[in-house]
Amino acid sequence: MELIELMQSQWTCRYYKTDPVSDDVLERVLDAARWAPQGGNRQPVRFVVVRDAEKKRQMKEWYLNPWNAYVAAARQGGIHIGSETEVKIPKMLSDADYFANHMDEVPVWLVVCAELAEIHPTDLDLGRPPVVYGASIYPAVQNVLLKARDEGLGTALTTLLCHYEPQVKAMLNIPDGIATCAVVTVGWPTKAFPKRLNRNPLSTMTFNESYGTPLYS
Ligand SMILES: Cc1cc2nc3c(=O)[nH]c(=O)nc-3n(C[C@H](O)[C@H](O)[C@H](O)COP(=O)(O)O)c2cc1C
Repeated sequence: MELIELMQSQWTCRYYKTDPVSDDVLERVLDAARWAPQGGNRQPVRFVVVRDAEKKRQMKEWYLNPWNAYVAAARQGGIHIGSETEVKIPKMLSDADYFANHMDEVPVWLVVCAELAEIHPTDLDLGRPPVVYGASIYPAVQNVLLKARDEGLGTALTTLLCHYEPQVKAMLNIPDGIATCAVVTVGWPTKAFPKRLNRNPLSTMTFNESYGTPLYS
């Protein structure tokens, strides 16, 4: 499959079979993470692979607290979700709600972590929330998502469990100095991948020389 087709069909998988993911395929998926760029080539990303049913159940319980608050606010219109062209928001929310309530049944969870001392953020003194920390982390996660798609595996990149970082760190023996950055669920999807994701047109995100000046119509 062409790289662009992988990208265009790499959706957030909400429905999974309970069939196991073999060690071999998981190793290939995780190995893709190594090739991502990170500042200074300092390689701060770590993954804790969790397959244990009780740990997943506990993490799902934690996840459901912020999720239930989020979905309630989104249904009342209090949180903006979806793109300009999105027409399926109720379906999106019900799929994500199903996922939240069954995510412990997904065979593999990747708890994505980062060694903070190995990241050199260049935007700490700007008086706004820093975003450069993530620039050394999420390219590796994207590599994992794409390689999983290439293997026919479904994934969901989630961040709500970061609210429970102290509890997750205690449960998984994650030491001080390491942040939790995401959970990626990995398993075999029950549904076919979409042909193409719903995204805004290129013209909405690209500018010519000056922010706001259209590059493409
Ligand atoms: C930074 C980030 C955080 C996300 N966190 C969650 C999450 O906590 N729970 C969830 O169900 N989906 C989460 N998602 C998935 C998005 O909801 C999803 O990518 C978006 O709705 C587009 O859907 P698609 O990937 O299927 O096209 C997250 C995605 C990103 C990039």
